[in-house]
Amino acid sequence: MQSTVWFITLACVALLAAVFYYVISNSKTPEEYPPIQKKWYSFRGKWFLFLAGLWVVVTFATLMPFPIAPQAQAYSGDGYQVVDVSGHQWYWTMSTDTVVAGKPVAFQVTGADVNHGLGIYDEDLTLVAQVQAMPGYTNKLIYTFDEPGKYRILCLEYCGLAHHAMIAELNVEAAS
Ligand code: CUA
Repeated sequence: MQSTVWFITLACVALLAAVFYYVISNSKTPEEYPPIQKKWYSFRGKWFLFLAGLWVVVTFATLMPFPIAPQAQAYSGDGYQVVDVSGHQWYWTMSTDTVVAGKPVAFQVTGADVNHGLGIYDEDLTLVAQVQAMPGYTNKLIYTFDEPGKYRILCLEYCGLAHHAMIAELNVEAAS
């Protein structure tokens, strides 16, 4: 085994040395620059088109599950559990603090005084969804809780002295 590895290593080193030798021995031969330039300019054009195409494909593929809910849509009780949330200095008001898992929740979020950030955290304090809470706007956030449990709502934007105290609980119950 060891001698095999040793042999492969030697072969690779010899190959590398041959490449070095080839490049060095050819480096003194002058070559016409314009044809090379032309060739690489045409390659550059194609490369640009390839990257532009790749950008379009990757952008569409990664944004297909678009993370922002349609804001103009009116959400109602038929397909959604609607929760109206408002951020205040320094507490949250919610139209309800209990939802069920497995059915989409439409949070309609606003701010009463200054900008706040609605951050929803699971029991491990992992952020699961977030949206800005802004005075004068109602931002909509659609989220479906897969796991029942005690979720927490924390403020994600510094909003003054007791920003850290803006903690509310959201109970997610198992679907019956
Ligand atoms: Cu509200 Cu920070």
